[in-house]
Amino acid sequence: RRKLFIPQIRKFSKYKSACHYSTNENLNKISTKTAENFIPFLQRIDIRRTEARRSIIVQVQSAKSYKELWSYCSTFGAIKSMFHYSVGIDPSHFIIVEFENESIVSSIMNSSNYSEGGSGMPTQSNFMWFKAANNKLKLKDNKNANLSVEFGTDIQLEEEIKVALGNSENVSEQIRKLHELTRLNDVGVRLRFLTALQIENAITGMFPHATAYPFGSSVNGYGKTGCDLDLFLKLSNDKRHDNGRLVFHCKPLNSSERSTTQRHMEVIGDLIHLFLPGCGHVRRILQARVPIIKYHQQLTDVECDVSMSNMSGVHMSDFLYIMGELDDRVRPLVFTIRNWAKTVGITNSAPGRWITNFSLTLLVLAFLQNPPSGKPVIPTLNKLEEQAGKSDKFALEDGTDVSFLRDITKYKQKTKNTDSLERLLMEFFVYYSQFDFDNKAICLNDTVAIAKPEHSAMYIINPLERGLNVSKNVSFEEVLRFKNELKNAAWILESKEPKTANWGLLSIMQGPKVVNMFQKLSTRTKPSRLVEIKSIFDDNENESKSPEKKVKSD
Ligand code: CTP
Ligand code: MG
Repeated sequence: RRKLFIPQIRKFSKYKSACHYSTNENLNKISTKTAENFIPFLQRIDIRRTEARRSIIVQVQSAKSYKELWSYCSTFGAIKSMFHYSVGIDPSHFIIVEFENESIVSSIMNSSNYSEGGSGMPTQSNFMWFKAANNKLKLKDNKNANLSVEFGTDIQLEEEIKVALGNSENVSEQIRKLHELTRLNDVGVRLRFLTALQIENAITGMFPHATAYPFGSSVNGYGKTGCDLDLFLKLSNDKRHDNGRLVFHCKPLNSSERSTTQRHMEVIGDLIHLFLPGCGHVRRILQARVPIIKYHQQLTDVECDVSMSNMSGVHMSDFLYIMGELDDRVRPLVFTIRNWAKTVGITNSAPGRWITNFSLTLLVLAFLQNPPSGKPVIPTLNKLEEQAGKSDKFALEDGTDVSFLRDITKYKQKTKNTDSLERLLMEFFVYYSQFDFDNKAICLNDTVAIAKPEHSAMYIINPLERGLNVSKNVSFEEVLRFKNELKNAAWILESKEPKTANWGLLSIMQGPKVVNMFQKLSTRTKPSRLVEIKSIFDDNENESKSPEKKVKSD
């Protein structure tokens, strides 16, 4: 897919005069990071949900169709913007059409057709295709038509990143560039909210207040291009009409809450599989602590994880979002560390005994709350809880209090930490390579060191549900591997001269090559970089003596 992305970009250069780069007045302000234009997380989600509701996705023959599509759609009402994207190796082309208001989408729905011959389920959704017109009906191109193109609806080419990093002045600039080049862009976010809207619309007949809340990396600001979409599907809203005397008859919930949720999810899984256009490869993972349905929405090329059991993930995303908004070093650092972890094989998109991106993000945040300089970059959750106001009061379904200050413009304590990103990155590597995972738990609620409550290899206290360990899945072998890779990274970063070949981040992100190289080595062979690292980490000698294990577990 990556290779095919280049011709697509080149093809587009022809339309450049007609294309503009997307701007989203409200949301672009976020990236400028000043207290005045901060938008609280749930409000931001609402803006995006409303934007999705006044949008449709139309499959077209090629990007060239945009003028004709603009003309056709304009007959229903004013268009706000159009965005092109493509999916697949032999690319299918799509245009997101955003209208000025939602009622225009309703008119379009009312006058759109099902496929001729009655093939296919007669479902109605925001996903459509643009039929070729017979000549008589062909509309004149609309002069106002314009199409936005945001390069990188897929992973940016490695080569492009390499050049950008190679040309940077220092490691801090490399970190910022990596973040800019790989983060989820506006089209990526729109596609995820439209994917969420599809499932929400599909069940609103029976559950008029159903809401599909996107959470996780799609919305917390740590998502990179192509990241998955985590959805929490809530069938009811919490609004009560206190004076209403007529009450709906509802089916009683007669089995345990968990098994009821599992049954409901099975049905939702079937519904996605059987009725929703573009949705396929449905997998039901119902025995997990949080049961989920996984599926792939082919029309947006988004991988989705739907859960229905609790809102904790949504509030957690709010917490991560706030941390990213509080200081503009947080996200670039998290991106870099997630990227590094992926390339050296510490994380893996398949579930298993390794560290997840979410755990890794919490490790970075915990480090930033308590860096070696003693000057926190971001506050602890306890500090935010202390300042929670009336509008910040939330509780989970089981009553767990998840109240904390959501509007950071009200957070008065500014950080005194002025460390460069380069320094923070280096300190992160050293900090966790020496961390006593055997005895200590990582806690984001407070900075005091906490003894591990049980013997998991890595213990990260879930900041919102404190009885849970976020990294319970991680094995002792993986912790060892993590520490070895941290040492490697610190050593390589320290020893490589700036501006030489593959310097800075490039030197520690030799990902797949390094991993493959290690895989080929016999388990008795010591990879040289692991041996070398020993000398600068004398105090951790015991662990450095076990590179064989690392090779094996790779
Ligand atoms: N989450 C949680 N507790 C966990 C695991 C996940 O609260 N033990 C929530 C977090 O809000 C997390 C979200 O679920 O961000 C989604 O989890 P996951 O998809 O694993 O992580 P992402 O942050 O979305 O990262 P990725 O880009 O790898 O999907
Ligand atoms: Mg995710």
